[in-house]
Amino acid sequence: MLTFALSKGRLSDKIFDMLRKLGLCDVSISDDDRRLILEANDLRFYLAKPSDVPTFVESGVADLGVVGKDTILEENRNIAEVLDLGFGKCRMCVCAKKGSGEAYKEIPSIRVATKYPHIAKEYFDSLNQHCEIIKLNGSVELACIVGLSDVIVDIVESGKTLKENGLEDVTTIHNLSARLIVNSASLKTKYDEIIEIINGFKKIV
Ligand code: PRP
Repeated sequence: MLTFALSKGRLSDKIFDMLRKLGLCDVSISDDDRRLILEANDLRFYLAKPSDVPTFVESGVADLGVVGKDTILEENRNIAEVLDLGFGKCRMCVCAKKGSGEAYKEIPSIRVATKYPHIAKEYFDSLNQHCEIIKLNGSVELACIVGLSDVIVDIVESGKTLKENGLEDVTTIHNLSARLIVNSASLKTKYDEIIEIINGFKKIV
């Protein structure tokens, strides 16, 4: 039996599709279904919040997980990232008011609003630039518009949110997409089963 930690929604739907294509299991979940654990064939699925997926995999209660690279970088858990699944592509960027370019690099103690404090701090540390991190939980763009911060560090997918709010991405910090992660002990004890999943996914991504 292999256990996956997944987040419910587009990501779990995509993984269920892939497993169905591979003939490994037939499972689906509707929007109004409140179950947190699903089982089909020899696979079990825990439906967790995206940011908690690495925690379940690190602890070993889940053998595998699927999560965005942003969450892997932010949570910094002891897990093995084994495959880029190629969907959910977007970028982690420094964004600022339109036309300001990389002028942010000259601000001695920059105020940075973000949902990703760890990623943002690491980036500004790499520039040797002192920063004050302002942790927000959403609508991060607002901080830059109203003057709560000088810049934001946030996910850019289509760029529409930035455009409609007079902002622009000025530096890409990381390219992001969904990744398959594995518990290191499970990789040894359940090697054959896990390799079957990895190789199957590799064929169809
Ligand atoms: C994310 C992200 C940006 C937006 C980017 O927010 O934080 O705000 O999507 O997408 P775009 O480039 O296609 O416009 P999300 O939708 O998760 O909402 P949130 O602001 O509440 O976090």
